[in-house]
Amino acid sequence: MILSVWTLGLLLVTFGGAHGHTNFPANFVVAKRNDPHPVTLTCNTQTEEGVSWRLDGEEVELDNYVQMEGPNLKISEVDAPMLGEYSCWRGGTMLSSTYLFQELEEDVALDSLLNCRAKSYDCNFTCSWRDSRFTAVRLGLGHDCSEGQRSCRWETSGGGHVGELQFVLPHSLSPYAEESTTLELTAEAINTFYILRRTKTFYLRDIIQPDSPQIVRCQEVGHELNVTLDPPPSWSTPHSFFSLEYEIEYEMKDDGKVIESSFSTLIPKKISKLRVRSRDSLVLSAWSQWTAWQNVNH
Ligand SMILES: *[C@@H]1O[C@H](CO)[C@@H](O)[C@H](O)[C@H]1NC(C)=O
Ligand SMILES: *[C@@H]1O[C@H](CO)[C@@H](O)[C@H](O)[C@H]1NC(C)=O
Repeated sequence: MILSVWTLGLLLVTFGGAHGHTNFPANFVVAKRNDPHPVTLTCNTQTEEGVSWRLDGEEVELDNYVQMEGPNLKISEVDAPMLGEYSCWRGGTMLSSTYLFQELEEDVALDSLLNCRAKSYDCNFTCSWRDSRFTAVRLGLGHDCSEGQRSCRWETSGGGHVGELQFVLPHSLSPYAEESTTLELTAEAINTFYILRRTKTFYLRDIIQPDSPQIVRCQEVGHELNVTLDPPPSWSTPHSFFSLEYEIEYEMKDDGKVIESSFSTLIPKKISKLRVRSRDSLVLSAWSQWTAWQNVNH
């Protein structure tokens, strides 16, 4: 009994609201470091009468840096002890609450935190986030998100490995319109007091990485082997428009363990096994993973 209470206590400390958000709060305000302009926290009420503010449950004391402006709270020179959940009250009734975060001004590029890949030009792509300092991360596409507007449609993580969050980003780009395929991706990441915000712009073609191709069959043609390959099922159609190129690696039969490689699908007959990978032949995308080695018997 004592043990389980202790364990529950630990869980609450680790995951509890005050110790790192697992979701973004509905209302929050971001203060920049050393910003000469004060931030304003708005109270959801028309009249200032009897309004008081609390920070994480404790009454806020007004001074030169923290002042009321009507029912709202104006805070200048925001620093660590001033961050947290503010709520405004009238008597015993909470009127609204809002978080005050400080923007993390690390010199870190989004590319080092976020890795995005598209298996095709269709519908969606996936991103994985690796930075376990943050307890909640969300991603959004477009101006609405880079400008932090309410109309932004944020995508939250759909799970992933430990220390890695996976996202699926739906997009509505036409796969045929090369020029209009720019994507503007914004990431927001928070922990207890800090928020990191980054936006990057790229082309869909820059993140294309097909799945592994399919080895359909191998046919002997004279001294050679004709390898027939199909694009992966996830690749965009028609295949005549979205063309892939292949690289075949094979091991020679009577030649020890020498691995050779070919960009042609006609390869020497005397091989013991082969594997294949593909990439978009027009934009020279990232290569797919290799298929598993496949034994060749003849
Ligand atoms: C992503 O798009 C593909 C079609 O291109 C679809 O099959 C798949 O279900 C989509 N994934 C999600 C999570 O929406
Ligand atoms: C290899 O096979 C494909 C069909 O799988 C065929 O279209 C092509 O002509 C063949 N190449 C040779 C050199 O036989």
